[in-house]
Amino acid sequence: MRTNLFAMLRSHTCNELTSADIGQEVTLCGWVHRRRDHGGLIFIDLRDRFGLTQVVSDPAESEECHKIAEGVRSEYVIQVKGVVRARPEGMRNENMETGEIEILISEFKVLNESQTPPFEIDQDKDVNEELRLKYRYLDLRRERMRKNIEMRYKAIKIIREMFDAENFLEIETPILIKGTPEGSREYLVPARLYPGQFYVLPQSPQQLKQLLMVAGMDRYFQIARCFRDEDQRGDRQPEFTQLDVEMSFVDEEDVMAVNEKAMIAVVEQCVPHKKIKERPFPRLTWQEAMDKYGSDKPDLRFDMPIVDICDEVKDCGFKVFADVVKNGGKVRALRVEGGNVMTRKEIDDLTEEVKVFGAKGLAYLQMAEEGPKSPILKFLDESVVSKIIEKAGAKTGDIVFFGADEFEVVCSTLGYVRLKCGDRFELRDSNVFAFCWVTDFPLFEWSKEEQRLNASHHPFTSPKMEDVDKLDSEPENVRARAYDLAVNGNEVGGGSIRIHDPKLQAKIFELLGISPEDAQRRFGHILHAFTYGAPPHGGIAWGLDRLIMVMQDEPNIREVIAFPKDQKARDLMLSAPSEMPADQVAEAHVKIIVPE
Ligand code: AMO
Ligand code: AMP
Repeated sequence: MRTNLFAMLRSHTCNELTSADIGQEVTLCGWVHRRRDHGGLIFIDLRDRFGLTQVVSDPAESEECHKIAEGVRSEYVIQVKGVVRARPEGMRNENMETGEIEILISEFKVLNESQTPPFEIDQDKDVNEELRLKYRYLDLRRERMRKNIEMRYKAIKIIREMFDAENFLEIETPILIKGTPEGSREYLVPARLYPGQFYVLPQSPQQLKQLLMVAGMDRYFQIARCFRDEDQRGDRQPEFTQLDVEMSFVDEEDVMAVNEKAMIAVVEQCVPHKKIKERPFPRLTWQEAMDKYGSDKPDLRFDMPIVDICDEVKDCGFKVFADVVKNGGKVRALRVEGGNVMTRKEIDDLTEEVKVFGAKGLAYLQMAEEGPKSPILKFLDESVVSKIIEKAGAKTGDIVFFGADEFEVVCSTLGYVRLKCGDRFELRDSNVFAFCWVTDFPLFEWSKEEQRLNASHHPFTSPKMEDVDKLDSEPENVRARAYDLAVNGNEVGGGSIRIHDPKLQAKIFELLGISPEDAQRRFGHILHAFTYGAPPHGGIAWGLDRLIMVMQDEPNIREVIAFPKDQKARDLMLSAPSEMPADQVAEAHVKIIVPE
């Protein structure tokens, strides 16, 4: 064993040496990425976070080293010393930063052995996700993961620089707070010192950042962890990270301007090869977004708008359409250019898939060479058909899909079909970023299950001043001073101008069915604070994980989080959640009732 090697662990990283270093003696450390035994010579691709360097063992140089080289396996941690030499002509690798050179090993030390990993680190093969999450520390060794983690760091660094330059302060807010539901279920933390009482983990620092405005901090941001005990999806995690922002003495335009500038800086610096489709970012009202794209987070990389055909079909012979119009619903059409190539099976699959939105069917019209074809043609007069075709702008070779139902059902159905057709006809280029602001959200949502109004965003969002007189008479038509930022069909941010007038806040609580006592109990801290001079303020939060996901072209946010939960909210590496020792549970004054 070469003991002297340990002394200086390494002189360079594995991505540093070039032909300029030929002749130098260097020491490298890393993992055995690949090992090729060519009888006489053994080639090892040595890997660290920075890259790869080829090291070569030649028995003529050192027999002792060669013996060690014969024994090492994938993922062993090694240290080698040797002289940098040019690779022979024809052996250079242009895809590798260090592809011009190799190291001829003269000293070799195994720093640690490794079991055979449960999946290959050196290849970008599909590996079962459970296995990847269980061995996340090995998964993170893979290039794809390393790049995602590096990009995440880079984005956060640029964000910090941008907001610092705009006079913001980064302020930490507590993780153990009071239960103050904003919308989703909260995680509870039993308070050992106060039997029967709980802290909760914040869904977002919403109320704290508003209190920071009352405190005169003026411009706040935080890379903030948020906790929401809700059902998991590809773009949701029980804990996730926001860039949280709040500003005093501002209106919508101020908040949007600072954030748009920061967003452009992040995208341009992180993924310079990708293109921002339009700037300033286009704006749509919520109503326009829903009507035209069937979504409040439209993918504007392609157009394919939805059109309303209520007028055209209100008296037509197809009862489904006519009845929907009569009952106040919507009938809408989506023209897919060139869509007549879609097979019967593709159409049937779509029809099946839209059932989750409550759609009772998915009528369609094929614009065949020989003329329009459709299962509903027999119910429709020729004049109605031509009016529909004209309104939809359909041409030979296209297909038109129809949705007839309540507004929400039609929007989600045709919005979904639009995205699927966007995929089908390759209109969703991952090298393009189509950002847009969606504004003028409804302040309230009517909850059918609970038979009451809920806040669409959160209860601190200000209504539009011109709509305030509708609060009592037609609350569902009151618009909020709220805005979302969407990119390529993802909601990557959302915020609003807040209510800073305690009287208006009390009115909103009343409409939400929160009694004055209840409001005091739940939100007393903020209501009280507002009686000491709250500045007008507003803010936004970016879903940082989602943004990185889109930038890195990843299918879900687990891919951009070092240690994510799985889709059942478990940490498979740590095996969390887990049972706790009885004495520890007792100390927290918790009694466990296991459901049947
Ligand atoms: P909101 O709830 O819209 O607003 O959240 C802001 C952004 O956070 C991201 N996001 C999530 N990302 C991953 N997993 C989740 N479970 C998850 N939930 C939300 C989304 C979303 O746009 N306090 C307000 C902001 C404000 O008004 O300033 C808030 O949290 O990208
Ligand atoms: P039916 O008369 O029920 O066989 O329906 C004829 C066509 O209309 C089928 O292609 C159905 O998928 C479609 N359809 C039925 N109900 C609706 C609806 N509410 N919206 C859109 N299409 C529908």
